[in-house]
Amino acid sequence: MFTFKRAATAASIALMAVTAACGGTESSSGGTAAGGSGSDSITLGFAQVGAESGWRTANTKSIQDSSKQAGVDLKFSDAQQKQENQIKAIRSYIQQKVDVIAFSPVIESGWDAVLNEAKRAKIPVILTDRAVDSKDTSLYKSFLGSDFVKEGNKAGEWAVKEFADAKEVNIAELQGTTGSAPATDRKQGFTDVISKDPKFKITQSQTGEFTRAKGKEVMEAFLKSGKPIDLLFAHNDDMALGAIEAIEGAGKVPGKDIKIVSIDAVKDGMQALADGKINYIIECSPLLGPQLMDLAKKVNAGEEVPARIETEEGEFDQAQAKEALPTRQY
Ligand code: AHR
Repeated sequence: MFTFKRAATAASIALMAVTAACGGTESSSGGTAAGGSGSDSITLGFAQVGAESGWRTANTKSIQDSSKQAGVDLKFSDAQQKQENQIKAIRSYIQQKVDVIAFSPVIESGWDAVLNEAKRAKIPVILTDRAVDSKDTSLYKSFLGSDFVKEGNKAGEWAVKEFADAKEVNIAELQGTTGSAPATDRKQGFTDVISKDPKFKITQSQTGEFTRAKGKEVMEAFLKSGKPIDLLFAHNDDMALGAIEAIEGAGKVPGKDIKIVSIDAVKDGMQALADGKINYIIECSPLLGPQLMDLAKKVNAGEEVPARIETEEGEFDQAQAKEALPTRQY
């Protein structure tokens, strides 16, 4: 499906850099961080999605730890997965005249008004982890995070190989937060690949809101429906972990009776993979803190920054998970 966001993404990859037009902005400490001053001491307002998953906890830690290391004065808020809370937090950062605002948008739509307020206040905005669908790309300086469509593609490609000899594959899907970039894009990426072969059918699909509790609850309902399930595609590890509890509760063996592919590669997910309960994981890195601090300093100094910075990510099978676990940071 063609969307403006994807066109903008392609254009931004082609261009790779935009000028961060950052005029002198009053800092929260009352000083003046003039564009191009290169001042290291900045105030960053960060509006986090919530604490819904192991990934999110690791992401928050990365941002908090790296702000200390970088000498950035971090103002942090947790929106508890609610867009209105994130909008309130951003407005409060504008009032406080922070130097830079960064946020991970809980859903893709509905940001233009508050982003225009930040623009009018001459406070540069950085998107981290999740994108917005705003047509006006001048509302933010850069996006730092993953290619979620690619992650979905990789999950689909693994399924095609894993079920090469099967005649029919019934798939249950646990989607992330409805309207969020990772849920929309992972679904699209996965479907694009599996839909090339009609033997793959997504027979049940519902949101598990990226949480373990909801993943368990929805998987229990899928199992109760009595429809056959050969493969579970979970948009994140936490929902897969909840689903594992539901599968075991129903007297089935996760990883064998029902194969599982998920996304993130957080420690608990990797442990389940090493234990044979998950079959494959696509990595999505939450360790965005150091790059974010660097970007925030650059946009505050009026330097040019890439319009889009993508994180490098791997994939793990069960043997690779065993090998990676001892040194896994999150
Ligand atoms: O936006 C990244 C996603 O959000 C992660 O995959 C998921 O675990 C988190 O909640």
